[in-house]
Amino acid sequence: MKANIMEYDTVALDDADNAVVIIDQTLLPGRTELISLRTAQEIWEAIYLLKVRGAPAIGVTAAMGIYILSKQIDTEDFSVFYGKFREYKDYLDSSRPTAVNLSWALKRMEAVALRAGKEGGKSIAEVKEILHQEALRIRDEDVQVCRRIGENGLILVNPGDGILTHCNAGKLAAVQYGTATSPIYLGQERGYGFHVFADETRPLLQGARLTAFELCSSGVDVTLICDNMSASVMAQGLVQAVFVGCDRVAANGDTANKIGTSVVATVAKHYGVPVYICAPTSTIDMETPTGAEIRIEERPAHEVTEMWYRERMAPEGIKVYNPAFDVTDHKLISGIVTEYGIARAPYVESLKEIMEKRSQLSRAETE
Ligand code: MRU
Repeated sequence: MKANIMEYDTVALDDADNAVVIIDQTLLPGRTELISLRTAQEIWEAIYLLKVRGAPAIGVTAAMGIYILSKQIDTEDFSVFYGKFREYKDYLDSSRPTAVNLSWALKRMEAVALRAGKEGGKSIAEVKEILHQEALRIRDEDVQVCRRIGENGLILVNPGDGILTHCNAGKLAAVQYGTATSPIYLGQERGYGFHVFADETRPLLQGARLTAFELCSSGVDVTLICDNMSASVMAQGLVQAVFVGCDRVAANGDTANKIGTSVVATVAKHYGVPVYICAPTSTIDMETPTGAEIRIEERPAHEVTEMWYRERMAPEGIKVYNPAFDVTDHKLISGIVTEYGIARAPYVESLKEIMEKRSQLSRAETE
């Protein structure tokens, strides 16, 4: 048992045991339990049930998961291997629809398998090893990317500032640092003395259970508020910036994130507080023109009526609407903080520039 949640890996690969190991986040903060995922169904369910959640962590889990599953494909024939790989990929991809990192990571794994096995004529054993290395690369890149988001985000705030965040875009949603929390952690390392307000984030309480927990465990000054209190703290001048994560950014800057983010952004606009979306470029989806085309996951009614209560808290048979995400209009967003810099309005142009910068730099790295 480690002393602090920050010492655990959110997602890890246990190659010897053929498993993806995650912290079961549904048990936090009360219990820290690691679980090993070995089958396609176990991986699918862990993502669907939010045992592992947050866009980057879902991507890393899917990458490691498809590697573990591909290890189990027993053939020497690439077309047989690829047929089964595609089945696993489509199945894992169906676990959650909004966070683009899930399909981004699976597509990236598919691309390396095809390049090695179909175009490169490598043996199945070699393809499996290439998948292994790619899964580890996706994990390692996440650490670097989040750190760079933190450096870029830190420029936007001053020592002593109040920062409000919604849901958990923290270490528990990624590998280290998180996205929205990365400027907070880097500020903490450098003595910035931020005051953080964490929205509890109904209905699954990722803010109360996860963000408050990990920030507290890191010694950050964090105050938990209910979702309907953001106007109150902003009206008192206690918040100088909002930092949130995201699950998918459309080409025009509209951003899907945990339900309630658009409420916070609307309130922040009223009080003149800037809203910054912290987004790895893997979360930017240039193929989705606007937020209207983003598929929003709807989740079961019991998450609202009873899941976190000792007793049911709503009448039996009540109609419940439970969208997991909402779309924040790009007009409410002051900047999208990526690992390649900060995109500002007009986003159609600035996001294109950021994505071009990414392609140029990754081309230069492979040359
Ligand atoms: O339903 P969840 O808990 O997966 O939702 C998570 C969020 O909305 C996060 O803000 C987002 O995935 C970004 S995580 C860096």
